Amino acid sequence: MKHAPVGVFDSGIGGLSILRALRAELPHEDFVYIADSGHAPYGERDDVHVIERSRAITAHLRAQYGIKALVIACNTATAAAIHLLRAEHPDLPIIGVEPALKPAVTHSHTGRIGVMATRGTLSSAKFRSLVESLAGQADFVCQPCDGLADAIEREDTTKIIALCADYTKAIGQFGTEIGQIDTLVLGCTHYPFIGEHLRKQVGPDVQLIDNGEPVARQTRRMLKSLSATDAPGQCTLLTTGDPTVLQQVARHWLAFERPVKLLAI
Ligand code: DGL
Repeated sequence: MKHAPVGVFDSGIGGLSILRALRAELPHEDFVYIADSGHAPYGERDDVHVIERSRAITAHLRAQYGIKALVIACNTATAAAIHLLRAEHPDLPIIGVEPALKPAVTHSHTGRIGVMATRGTLSSAKFRSLVESLAGQADFVCQPCDGLADAIEREDTTKIIALCADYTKAIGQFGTEIGQIDTLVLGCTHYPFIGEHLRKQVGPDVQLIDNGEPVARQTRRMLKSLSATDAPGQCTLLTTGDPTVLQQVARHWLAFERPVKLLAI
């Protein structure tokens, strides 16, 4: 088990923002990453679709790679499927991702926090109970960002800029004065890759918060055995969509040069 890889998946390229943090936290572990770009976006589809895809990917990672843990590097899939996957794989440590509302409460001075996420995440029971658990500690202004993950997948910069402008405007007034939103939660793993576009909209003083690092630390805690070697861990990247897209993003953000494989599941 020590030498088995950790499985990681997302609807597409977004989970690479989590994989980057995982590799920094666990440099000797091997990872197998599946981008389900051929079946993305998840965020505007119903739970049935997301659950079915999450089950198929988990089964593949177990059967083909014998993974020792699974990181669901997708807020939408975590909200829809983590409880089912944990029930169906009780022997497998499964780590999920949720919008970083708790860290945001700690960071915010004005007590007004913007949350950008997919429609699927924001309408989930899991997200509702997260908000309820923080009742009275801050005001959350939640914005479903239809089309944004898809525009990031397609590297459509014009659309990304337009959607960032529309959605941040809809959230409200950003800044550090009383009554303004001083913290913006990036509640979809695709959004850290467009941090520069969001920053232009909200200004220099607003905190942008994602949860790559907390998820990586949580994964370390949940692993029953760490790799015994001192050699750098290997990553295998697979996609159900266009391998060149995942390859480009992985090269840019993770300095990953090995070929990406096409996966038909
Ligand atoms: N990256 C995913 C998330 O964190 C979802 C993007 C999508 O497929 O809609 O929610």
